[in-house]
Amino acid sequence: MRLSKSPPSISYISFLALYIFSYTITPVSSNYLQEDFVKCLHRNTHVNFPLEKTFFTPEKNASTFINVLEATAQNYRFLTKATPKPTFIFKPVHESHVQASVICSKKLGIHLRVRSGGHDFEAVSYVSQIETPFVLLDLSKLRQINVDIEENSAWVQAGATLGEVYYRIAEKSKIHGFPAGLCSTVGVGGYITGGGYGALMRKYGLAADNVLDAKIVDAHGKLLDRSSMGEDMFWAIRGGGGGSFGIILAWKLKLVPVPETLTIFSVTKTLEQDPDLKTLSKWQHIADKLVEELFIRVVIRASGNNTAAASYRGQFLGDQGTLIGIMKKAFPELGLTEKDCTEMRWIESVIFNGEFPSGTPIDALIQVKSPLVNPSFKSKGDIVKKPIPALALKGIFKRMVQQEPGTFVAFTPYGGMMAKISEYEIPFPHRSGTLFKILYNSNTGTRPSRQLNWIRELYSFMTPYVSSNPRQSYVNYRDLDLGQNTKNTTSNFKNAQIWGATYFKGNFERLVRIKSKVDPGNIFRHEQSIPTLPVQS
Ligand SMILES: Cc1cc2nc3c(=O)[nH]c(=O)nc-3n(C[C@H](O)[C@H](O)[C@H](O)COP(=O)(O)OP(=O)(O)OC[C@H]3O[C@@H](n4cnc5c(N)ncnc54)[C@H](O)[C@@H]3O)c2cc1C
Ligand SMILES: *[C@@H]1O[C@H](CO)[C@@H](O)[C@H](O)[C@H]1NC(C)=O
Ligand SMILES: *[C@@H]1O[C@H](CO)[C@@H](O)[C@H](O)[C@H]1NC(C)=O
Ligand SMILES: *[C@@H]1O[C@H](CO)[C@@H](O)[C@H](O)[C@H]1NC(C)=O
Repeated sequence: MRLSKSPPSISYISFLALYIFSYTITPVSSNYLQEDFVKCLHRNTHVNFPLEKTFFTPEKNASTFINVLEATAQNYRFLTKATPKPTFIFKPVHESHVQASVICSKKLGIHLRVRSGGHDFEAVSYVSQIETPFVLLDLSKLRQINVDIEENSAWVQAGATLGEVYYRIAEKSKIHGFPAGLCSTVGVGGYITGGGYGALMRKYGLAADNVLDAKIVDAHGKLLDRSSMGEDMFWAIRGGGGGSFGIILAWKLKLVPVPETLTIFSVTKTLEQDPDLKTLSKWQHIADKLVEELFIRVVIRASGNNTAAASYRGQFLGDQGTLIGIMKKAFPELGLTEKDCTEMRWIESVIFNGEFPSGTPIDALIQVKSPLVNPSFKSKGDIVKKPIPALALKGIFKRMVQQEPGTFVAFTPYGGMMAKISEYEIPFPHRSGTLFKILYNSNTGTRPSRQLNWIRELYSFMTPYVSSNPRQSYVNYRDLDLGQNTKNTTSNFKNAQIWGATYFKGNFERLVRIKSKVDPGNIFRHEQSIPTLPVQS
């Protein structure tokens, strides 16, 4: 999904310019750090490549450094002058560079962060708020995709985007697809580590449910695949969250069948058209129970005009006539007509789901530079197990109407295949019994502290109406409000148990055991990485 279509504000641009020109030179020691790192890389990789070309430091060229840092950074809330910056950025061009980076960062004692698509809600892939210095390993040059239609599979490197994966599949077949996310610029590397949902989830489950194999660099710098890493680690990396177990180099995906044409629709109901929220109330009762071929998401948007509207965005793996028949019976309140529907190829539905303007050619999916303007945002998530009373839905709208455009609340339906997979199959536990999940997204571009308060108040307001004991959410909706971050590893573990239960329920303990086995030194760490078992005192 896209977060905003509006251009960056003038104040942002001037802020950026100011920022670039006032970049303060970091201490000389950082130069040595980089030199040592390069020397170490040369010793630990047999590929002859001029490494200097893929190193970026503020000393060498401040504006290039900032451009590289910000190229895929999706959340401008973490691109202020005060946000800690990496000492340098390294873009590996060969898989062995990633192995050498792990070995060298360990040897030199430099903290490492890894970024694929840069869409982390809390920017933990490119900002460390707990440790400096740190280096940023940016996988954007490792983005090869090999689709094998005969074998019904694809090997995809971590730096590729979802849009590129969709495009390369569609290039070879009209009847193959992959069940991944709505937003085309999300990186394959981080997305699948958290599970990965999208418009095909009710039919085929999560992206992580459709992974056959993986290549990963472990804490020793070793390159492993499914058979050499073993089933425990292979379990953990498919939903246990990014940046905890190793660096994914590539995933082997199982392709899924899609019809040659499918049907999409979008119907918007303003608050004036649905004042008692009868349509939204009904949606809550039916969205998870519809045929698996039908996925209807609701996005409630602030109009910036003292009002808000709910968009019902649907995808049906079949023709328009069949869809209208189903909707007349199951969801007449929406009043879906042929005028609202369009039949198209699966690859074109990806453009629709990505909320590109209608008519955008599918080539937009392989534009390396994101067509999206990166806004500044704060998000939170919830899992819902029983319908929310209309009065509480009104409470959401009451809060939305005061908001500026860019702020939204999205409801994504579960059921179908999602409910058929056991909650222990992979670390992602939100399966049977889940009606839908909520994404709250606050536009923090202007007046950030007021907006942070706004979303926290909304989250608190929702407490009685969502899952509890523990209150649950999706790890890829990362929220650093859950548990605090300190250097105290004892209290860190206690905090981790809080967000651990939120994201993984009972699977958290297995993740901790696996983490303690495969990365006992906690090389792969960030504000919300899976912790090792605390040392008994
Ligand atoms: C606009 C937008 C739309 C979104 N839409 C969807 C959606 O439709 N469905 C959905 O499920 N999610 C969606 N998300 C959430 C998204 O899945 C997560 O933010 C995901 O982690 C992003 O992956 P990335 O590679 O782009 O991010 P990054 O910021 O690069 O990485 C995210 C996390 O994974 C780690 N990581 C990155 N690369 C690797 C690697 N190679 N190996 C190991 N760890 C790694 C990072 O350290 C970080 O912890 C959306 C997010 C945004 C901002
Ligand atoms: C920095 O790089 C930019 C291109 O990205 C170039 O135009 C500029 O001249 C460089 N500045 C220096 C000081 O090398
Ligand atoms: C805001 O509301 C007014 C009055 O209802 C209407 O005329 C105007 O078109 C609306 N603007 C937007 C951006 O919706
Ligand atoms: C760390 O946290 C634990 C548990 O909250 C506390 O008992 C301990 O005193 C803390 N240690 C330090 C050094 O602050």
